[in-house]
Amino acid sequence: MSQNIVDREQYRPHIHYTPAANWMNDPNGLVYFGGLYHLYYQYNPYSSSHANMHWGRATSTDLVHWQEREVALPEHKHQVFSGSAVVDWHNTSGFGQGRQPPLVACYTGHTADNQAQFLAYSLDQGVTWTYHDEPVLDLGKQDFRDPKIFWHAASAQWIMVVVHPVERQVELYGSGNLREWTSLSIFGPVGFTGGIWEVPDLFPLEDETGRTHWVMKVDLNPGGPYGGSGVQYWLGNFDGQNFTATTSARWLDHGNDFYAALTWNDLTGRRVWIAWMSNWRYAHDVPTLGWRGAMTLPREVCVCADPDLPTLAQRPVPELQALRQHWTDLQGGGRFSLTEHQAHEVLLQWPALPDGRVILEFHSASGCELSVEVVLEEVVVRRPATVSTTLLEGYSGEHRGKLPSHLTQHDLHIFLDASSVEVFAAAGRIVISDLLFPSEAIREMTVHVSGLEPASFQGELWSLNSSTP
Ligand code: FRU
Repeated sequence: MSQNIVDREQYRPHIHYTPAANWMNDPNGLVYFGGLYHLYYQYNPYSSSHANMHWGRATSTDLVHWQEREVALPEHKHQVFSGSAVVDWHNTSGFGQGRQPPLVACYTGHTADNQAQFLAYSLDQGVTWTYHDEPVLDLGKQDFRDPKIFWHAASAQWIMVVVHPVERQVELYGSGNLREWTSLSIFGPVGFTGGIWEVPDLFPLEDETGRTHWVMKVDLNPGGPYGGSGVQYWLGNFDGQNFTATTSARWLDHGNDFYAALTWNDLTGRRVWIAWMSNWRYAHDVPTLGWRGAMTLPREVCVCADPDLPTLAQRPVPELQALRQHWTDLQGGGRFSLTEHQAHEVLLQWPALPDGRVILEFHSASGCELSVEVVLEEVVVRRPATVSTTLLEGYSGEHRGKLPSHLTQHDLHIFLDASSVEVFAAAGRIVISDLLFPSEAIREMTVHVSGLEPASFQGELWSLNSSTP
């Protein structure tokens, strides 16, 4: 056991999903079916390091309270790497029996020298799964992974986006039955290519003017904004064959710990995703004992039709409001206590003035453990090194996001949990997601406001009930 492990449960999140024990990384197989949000994930049931990949499983009725379930897809002749799942409503795959549509998962079967795409199906709402033995896409390549499949109504076919990591390419495939796939096109290399590409997603979003944008999201490792892993996106069009970017690549999250996000299939009326909250640069060494890896909060994804450039925004799902417990008014700023063993939510709003400056500092008995500053149209999160993070290369530092200049109001929405902070600014256009391993529990928040009328600075602090059973 390494030296950096400090305390058993000090860093166990109160409102973020973690399995009770062992290693977790990417979310997989996200699908909404039968009134349940299904969350599968890369899971090693034997230890808290990345090996022996299975698909672990959790379910929720509200995206807030998660119930860990039995492992769904165990490692067998290969490790079960990342992938996705769909409801095959019309039984195009032929896996269905009777009236219940099958759930079909498509994942990467990983061995030391080969990665290929395989299927598994479930006839009991995602509890037990049967492997379809033959691969559906095997190019005999060592790196070829992370299939995201979805139904594309306009071209009446299943689409798969899957990466060639080393080539920095996403390949798009089409299928009528989920078993036979035909190549449609290749996207890339383009954008950020300083690391291998992983975990693509492709989905449409309508902006507030009713215009549809397709979002292509691709993770990369390393080559992220701070040297470790990171995530980029493009907006553009998809015609059933090609994705054509109409913007250049932009960072999707300006923190260090948002990776492998995946959207839920079969959700109507909104688009929601969740990501693994870590960074491959130090994921193996995070100072938790017996478990390792947490999800971010689930977020709604949308596109804002901004004057110069349409921009992706992420907002915490409104269901999280059900966790709110005690309220404190933050008007004008000051010094506020936080409750130990609870997560907190902070909402702030103030006029965007040239001299306005807002600094939040989060203190434990050992000193400042985190600060969030908004000045000169920039959000800056500072995450200092602590006794728990000495082994985490690239942990301490500043994470910055530029705010759009057309806004007349600034807003911040922050979730602080036992080992993470998620900062949403400019209505979710700028998001900074960071793990946090404070030396001691954070007990106080100070809010310094300058260059503003104190009364024009409005805010709320909420203590949150725990979402874990
Ligand atoms: C991304 C990733 C995927 C792969 C999985 C293995 O974090 O590296 O490319 O399928 O994790 O656990």
